[in-house]
Amino acid sequence: MASVPSLASNVQQRLADALTAALPEAGAADPLLRRSDRADFQANGILALAKKLGGNPRELAAKVVDAIGPNDVLGDIEVSGPGFLNITITDKAITETLAARAADDRLGVPFAAGSGTTVIDYAQPNVAKEMHVGHLRSAVIGDAMVQILEFTGEKVVRRHHIGDWGTQFGMLIQYLIEHPHELDHKDGVSGEEAMSNLNRLYKASRTLFDSDEEFKDRARRRVVDLQSGDEETLALWQKFVDESKIYFYSVFEKLDMEIRDPDIVGESGYNDMLDETCRILEESGVAVRSEGALCVFFDDVKGPDGNPVPLIVKKSNGGYGYAATDLSAIRDRVQNLGANTLVYVVDARQSLHFKMVFETARRAGWLNDKVKAVQLAFGTVLGKDGKPFKTREGETVRLVDLLDEAIDRATAVVREKAEKVGLSEQEIVENGRYVGVGAVKYADLSTSAVRDYKFDLDQMVSLNGDTSVYLQYAYARIQSIKRKAGDRRPVAHPELELAPAERALGLHLDQFGEVLAEVASSYEPHKLAAYLYQLASHLTTFYDQCHVLSADNPAEVVENRLFLVDLTGRTLHQGMALLGIRTPERL
Ligand code: ARG
Repeated sequence: MASVPSLASNVQQRLADALTAALPEAGAADPLLRRSDRADFQANGILALAKKLGGNPRELAAKVVDAIGPNDVLGDIEVSGPGFLNITITDKAITETLAARAADDRLGVPFAAGSGTTVIDYAQPNVAKEMHVGHLRSAVIGDAMVQILEFTGEKVVRRHHIGDWGTQFGMLIQYLIEHPHELDHKDGVSGEEAMSNLNRLYKASRTLFDSDEEFKDRARRRVVDLQSGDEETLALWQKFVDESKIYFYSVFEKLDMEIRDPDIVGESGYNDMLDETCRILEESGVAVRSEGALCVFFDDVKGPDGNPVPLIVKKSNGGYGYAATDLSAIRDRVQNLGANTLVYVVDARQSLHFKMVFETARRAGWLNDKVKAVQLAFGTVLGKDGKPFKTREGETVRLVDLLDEAIDRATAVVREKAEKVGLSEQEIVENGRYVGVGAVKYADLSTSAVRDYKFDLDQMVSLNGDTSVYLQYAYARIQSIKRKAGDRRPVAHPELELAPAERALGLHLDQFGEVLAEVASSYEPHKLAAYLYQLASHLTTFYDQCHVLSADNPAEVVENRLFLVDLTGRTLHQGMALLGIRTPERL
């Protein structure tokens, strides 16, 4: 395995060397290289340098050009405008770089320098509750970030901070004590059944809680039993957790996503730390008593009335809330898991909570220059009408229904073309799943996470436009060409001249590693989606302008084009896999 420097970094280095040689007084100046429409790259750095050194930029630029020794990477360099450099790469350098990528199973993508340990908090549904589109976003975005970070060499610890603790369990457990056989069933219950059992219990206990004062009292006392670790109570609580997990796993499986049991560390997992967390905060003066509660105040967090709104770590009744748990989780992740980075894939509506929690942790010294925390905040999923996504009856949409519908639609799309491709019924069903689930994931991942987006299935399974199906078809078409090629193999021929569409495709392929590095450090998976979409678009133009298997082509041209097509396929496959989306071989 060898990482391959991109052409951009190669050019950057050569220009930087030439700059230093031609203008030693400039020190280590940045040539400011960009991709360009006029040539392959443009360097703008000489303008600022001329200002600093007080010279004529065009003359300085000419000196830099002279200082670039003979080489076979920079084909053509011209001074243009007020003192830019327009740079065209040789065809040979493009093909050779791509050949080096093709020879590596990581496509030449380097491991990130200075990688560390990232704990990523994502896919965190709540026990005894239905999963909704918000949980979908967290799961999809989080899973993509896990794959991308791991690919760049980061050690990733996954944490599913499920909502498995809190006062609502008093009510549920008390109800179960009074109706003992409600959750008794043999193994093998489906996710759907598990959820409907929980729903039934939730509704029944809620009704009782709201109508029967004595039950309410018993339920409240049950909360105390739970918190003090009473065994019978804990055993019943565990039943709810287990039943919920059956449901969660069935949804994650439908989402084609691997969630592992040891990574599920819910709110309850930090129970034993809560006391100590509060004690440390109070003793260090980070938290103070206010109206009986233990609070942390912030200068810039005020309510509508202008009064400060504190983060409450311990309520006046002695109970702990969401914040105490999150603060304890930070301690655990930093001190026990050795995290350098904490990432939270959570709804933007919780941004104030995380802002306060992170700031508190900083004051306590748990976060510092060496350990940072970021919220990868995501926006709301909207219906076609632009309002938060609801069913016609105004209820939140069940994730399972939504996935099933996407799969149905996608299966219909796949079936339409199936005969031509010769797909079996089994392949239609399987591809329908991959296309449907891929469509939902891609729609989520292709818009910048903090933005709200409209859930529009018609658009999502459309064959044209920025959709996963478009990318999946691009991949399947590549595989079909490779099958048709028979014994003609993909072979790079650096001596061949490239057509404009080949160069454009090649230069884009070369950027894969850079895009991944950027996505990994900015936590913006939509940039990977955009890259892949552009890759498929370059491929489409390439097909239009360059025939691959045409009998008129010399054998080397066929081989070189097959080589480009093959590398495009591998890049698409790898990129889509990092987004959690399958690429069927035949579609
Ligand atoms: N369970 C929460 C919800 O459904 C999300 C948890 C987010 N993670 C955290 N560490 N607070 O909204």
